[in-house]
Amino acid sequence: MNGFALKGHVCYSKSAGELCTYADHYAVCIDGKSVGVFAALPQEYAQAEIIDCGDRLILPGLIDLHIHAPQYAYRGLGMDLELMDWLEQQAFPEEIKYQDLGYAECAYSMFAEQMKRSATTRACIFATKHRAATEILMQLMEETGLISYVGKVNMDRGAPGALCEESAGASAAETITWIKNAVEKFQRTKPILTPRFVPCCTDELMERLQKIQVTYGVPVQSHLSENHGEISLVHELRPQNGFYGEVYNDFGLFGKSRATEESVKTVMAHCVWSSEKEVELMKKNGVFVAHCPASNMNLSSGIAPIKSYLKHGLRVGLGSDVAGGQSESIFRAMTDAIQVSKLYWRLVDQGIQPVTFSEAFYMATKGGGEFFGKVGSFEEGYAFDAIVLDDACIPHPQKLTVRQRLERAAYLALDQKGVWKKYVDGMQVF
Ligand code: GUN
Ligand code: FE
Repeated sequence: MNGFALKGHVCYSKSAGELCTYADHYAVCIDGKSVGVFAALPQEYAQAEIIDCGDRLILPGLIDLHIHAPQYAYRGLGMDLELMDWLEQQAFPEEIKYQDLGYAECAYSMFAEQMKRSATTRACIFATKHRAATEILMQLMEETGLISYVGKVNMDRGAPGALCEESAGASAAETITWIKNAVEKFQRTKPILTPRFVPCCTDELMERLQKIQVTYGVPVQSHLSENHGEISLVHELRPQNGFYGEVYNDFGLFGKSRATEESVKTVMAHCVWSSEKEVELMKKNGVFVAHCPASNMNLSSGIAPIKSYLKHGLRVGLGSDVAGGQSESIFRAMTDAIQVSKLYWRLVDQGIQPVTFSEAFYMATKGGGEFFGKVGSFEEGYAFDAIVLDDACIPHPQKLTVRQRLERAAYLALDQKGVWKKYVDGMQVF
């Protein structure tokens, strides 16, 4: 038996509505998995090393279901634009720089270092179209100890020449080389198929990606129904489709393989303006929604009706969407999700109640964690991903409950002040 126990104040979700908090408990990890949370260390784990976290909070690591690594360098800049202009004026010019491997190494090192220090233990990451730079990013992410999916972006239209791949065939060939290299080289950093979004991918490219998905069994990430201008463009490009998600579905890239009918693990960012039919298909195919509230505010995209997605039984996690979102903090994403849902309730639809703190914590941990398997909780059998937070730097004149301390830590973005210890899959990151 190889294991240890973190002793402190333990918080985790059982479901969206059930947030558990336990003062002075033991979260026990055996062979990389959680075996449960206990008031006293059970006899059978008496050999486990006890790591005394004192008066600190112990939570499952946070999950970022959508972040752009190359955009980290310019987070917090150029935020006065809507999506399509922002892509043209901010995102694309920055991403072109990643053809320079020196720049990529420098910028991606900063990104990886911040991800390591953050409260995030697992992430779905977009790189750029550049294979060599993407491999540098994967090597750096591998060294952090975090577990991530990283995507070499596919794009063969709708962007400056320097950022478009030569042809659908060239894009597909590079993607196959990249997947083969990545599978061989990395254990914790996995390739994920990443068509940027429909406006940047020709039908021929999507068709080729479909075949690659079937051959290599890789998961899929993309953007969906984020902004009105984007959605109109998709209707112009694919008039034969009734809704945006149907385009991905036609190419077997929307939760279900067209060739085999098998499920294809898929995460779509945003879903701000998804129609009823789109929501139904996401539910039927088990597509994950990456809710990115900060990005939706910054790019004036709108408010995704996340509470109703949760009620519908959709799989929902949170994304920072750096640099649409200005911060990689998933605590910040939690509180943004709550706040935008209150505006939605007050200003848009009084029939849809705001997202609760318990639901936001669930999305940040177990909801997003499901994309990685049994991840995001301390229930028995879950991968042992944990962060230990020290909130002594936020004094209070009275004693607070563990639950109150957790809520306060999220609202005051305590993760930005520093995480005390971090574990991924039972291994200590620091
Ligand atoms: N849609 C296509 N590309 C992007 C991107 O880089 N960020 C966001 N927020 N939406 C996109
Ligand atoms: Fe994005």
